[in-house]
Order: sequence, then C-alpha cells, then structure tokens
Amino acid sequence: MDKLVIEGGNPLSGTIRIHGAKNAALPILAASLLAEGVHSLHNVPKLLDIETMLNILERLGCRCAHEEETVTIDTSPLGTSHVPEDLMRQMRSSIFLMGPLLSRFGEVTIYQPGGCAIGERKIDLHLQGLKQLGAEIEESNGRISCRAAKLTGSEVHLDYPSVGATENIMMAAAMAEGTTTISGAAREPEIQDLQNFLNQMGAQIIGAGTDTITIQGVKKLYPCSYEVIPDRIVAGTVMIAAAATRGNVTLTHTNAGHLTSLIHVLRRAGVQITVCNDIINISCMGRPRAVERIVTSPYPSFPTDLQSQVMVLLSLADGFSVIKETVFEGRFKHVEEMARMGADISIDLNRAFIRGVQRLYGATVEATDLRAGAALVIAGLAAHGTTVVEQAHHIDRGYDGIEKLFQKLGARISRKVPVPGPLDLAN
Ligand code: EPZ
Repeated sequence: MDKLVIEGGNPLSGTIRIHGAKNAALPILAASLLAEGVHSLHNVPKLLDIETMLNILERLGCRCAHEEETVTIDTSPLGTSHVPEDLMRQMRSSIFLMGPLLSRFGEVTIYQPGGCAIGERKIDLHLQGLKQLGAEIEESNGRISCRAAKLTGSEVHLDYPSVGATENIMMAAAMAEGTTTISGAAREPEIQDLQNFLNQMGAQIIGAGTDTITIQGVKKLYPCSYEVIPDRIVAGTVMIAAAATRGNVTLTHTNAGHLTSLIHVLRRAGVQITVCNDIINISCMGRPRAVERIVTSPYPSFPTDLQSQVMVLLSLADGFSVIKETVFEGRFKHVEEMARMGADISIDLNRAFIRGVQRLYGATVEATDLRAGAALVIAGLAAHGTTVVEQAHHIDRGYDGIEKLFQKLGARISRKVPVPGPLDLAN
C-alpha cells in the first residue's frame, strides 16, 4: 500500500485551486440514473470514491467517461437495478443508488453497506423514508430488496438529519405521484447542490438548506449539464494545514459561505482569514491560541469531517482545548497515531481533551480512514523531522493526490509506491 513521506517544519505558502466536492458529486452521479440520456457533470474530481461510483454505474449498464474534471454519463443502456455486492462493500455511498433505481425500475437490490472505521453507519432512516413513499423492503443476510409498483408522495420525518437519507428520499420522491415533504432534513450544501441538479433535470424541489424540503413529483426527468460545488472539506483541510504550519496560503474556487463554522473557530485561534468572492486567504504568523470547546454536529455547525484536522492545529496551540464528537462514534482513531508524534490528548467517551504542545515530532503513523489520514498529513507537515503516513489509499478516497496539492504550497512531501517483490510478480 502507498505511503506518504513528509519532511515537516516548512510553512505552507502559495495559491491553490480547490477541486469539486466528493460529497456533492456522489449523490448527483446516482441521481443521473433518474433520466435517460447523456449528462455532462463538471468540476468532478478524480477520486477513488468517484471512480468506484462510475464503476458501479457501468456495471448497471451505463456508459461513463471521466476526462479532466468532466464526467459524461449515458444512462440509456441502464439495464439492471441489482447493485454488485463487491462494489457495494467497497463504498458505503452506493446506498445513494436505492432511491433512483427504485424510482426507475420499481425495484432495487442492495447489500447492507458495511460499517467503517468511523462508526456503525446505519441505514434505518433511509429504509423508513422509502417505506413511507410506498416501498416494500425485505432484509435477509445483509441483502436488502426493495419493491414499489408506484412511489407516492408522503410526509416523511427524519428523527436525525441524516445527509444520505435526506438525499435518497429526495431522489425517490422526485418522480413519485404527489407531494413529499421531508421534515427534520439535513441542511448541508451538498443537499442544496443535489436539489439544484434535480431541478436542472426538471424536478420541482424547494427548501434544500433548510430543515424542510418539499418535492412535487413530476412525470419525467431529463439529462442535463451541471457544475458541482467546491469541496468545503478539502478547502477546510488546506486552511487548517496553512495555520498549523504557520504559513500564508490563498485558496481559489471556494465558497466561504460553506465554511463559516470553521472560519469562526480559526479566528478564535488567532488565525488571520480574509474572504473576497471565491478566494480565501489564510495566514498564521505565531502560535495559535487554544479554543475552549468545539462540538461537531450537523450543518451549519462544526463539521465532523474537519474534526480530526482541527485537532492537529489545537494539539500545537497555546493552551487547553476540548472537542466533542457527536456525529460518529468512532472518529478519534487518529489520536493514538498523533500521540506517537508527541501530541498530548486524552479521550473520555466522545470528548477529546487537548493540551497544546510546542511542537510535534516526525514518526511513522497509519491512516485508519479518510479524514484521520488527512489529519496525519497535516501533523507531518507541521512536525519537526520526517513523518511516514502508511495506508495512504484511505486519503485518496477524498483528496485528488494530497501530496501534489501540498507540493504546490511548498511542502516536502512525496508518495512511495511499494515495488512488487518476486513473490508478488509470481502471483
Ligand atoms: C455523509 O455521510 C458524508 N458522506 C460523510 O462524509 C459525513 O461525515 C456525513 O454525511 C455527516 O456530515 C457523503 O456524503 C458521501 P449521515 P452519511 O447519514 O450520509 C447515523 C467523508 O469523510 N445514521 O448524516 O453516511 C449515522 O450512523 C464522509 O467525506 C443513522 O443512524 O452521514 C451517523 O452516526 C465520512 N441511520 C449519523 O447518522 C441512518 O439511516 C450521520 O450519518 C443514517 C445515518
């Protein structure tokens, strides 16, 4: 498996363009199945999760191409609603296919997506919502079969503002008969992007970005051309890395309106941030201040996907900080690895108590999941000495070549790809 080797202690500087949002592109790719014909999706980054989703669409019969940052999908040959188990297991986001396939075929078979390093990842809210639209669901041995001769608009309430469940229900309701209202909906920008894409296809949806979304079912949807929003988590990761290395970085192709909670925290830590249209400048000349308390929770609060990264910054801050993680039950796996670099962090259930240290030291650490891996790269960039981040493939799921991204900002980081040995070659 690939490793990243980082010579730390070098302040980041320069300008970087932020690529399109993985968590907007994935549901939009699934939603493309709702219309027969050729879609053109722009600002779609080359990430492992995107390629996995395109593989699934091709296994379902679609013709896909990904050139530069444009994806072309011809859904005309779509021929089956059975999502391959091997690919389902590879990526939880395949769950997004349930709504569109149920709508197109009146049936869909998927497999219980496995949990992952960050938590159990239940799908009960997805299934409850689809049942309320008229689906009959059978589960046995991890195989989930859904059937609905017709999907009918309904009042759906989510007990928790699940991003994926909100998106799945929106897609299933887009061509249901009648009106669907989702109350308790998630409010993430990626959900607004999905609404805009679906409306571009001819859907009639309002309310995304609030906790109540109304979908007026239409008879048919049409393929379209669409540009995906910038990735706020990649932007936030770069901003935190700039602060942790006491650098000065300019980000372009961003939407600061999607990052207000992070910007608020960074300013409390003494980091200088200026915003002009789609450009964010961030600089940190001295040691950051501790931030008394950060609580992750659904948008617009502080995002769980930036929790591990901001913990690295606070591990170097002057003072004592507390982070409470309320979204996923297993999202502190980076703490043990950071301790190997000299961080002083203790965990009590879902709270991390961080006592800032003057410096971190390079070490060999392991990426356990996507965002924990990104956090360890930031730690390596800020640390004194050499850091090796193993299992770098986790990071490739959400960053288009994280080493290239930081090399452009002056970081001394490189990727080591294992050379196949004689035994590997013999296989
Ligand atoms: C999306 O995951 C994102 N992934 C995640 O980003 C992100 O962390 C998460 O939203 C929260 O913002 C994509 O958009 C592809 P949820 P999703 O449903 O939809 C529980 C990354 O790093 N829950 O809002 O799976 C669940 O167990 C990834 O890019 C249920 O109990 O998130 C979790 O504790 C990681 N029942 C919480 O809700 C359900 O039916 C949040 O899950 C669904 C979810």
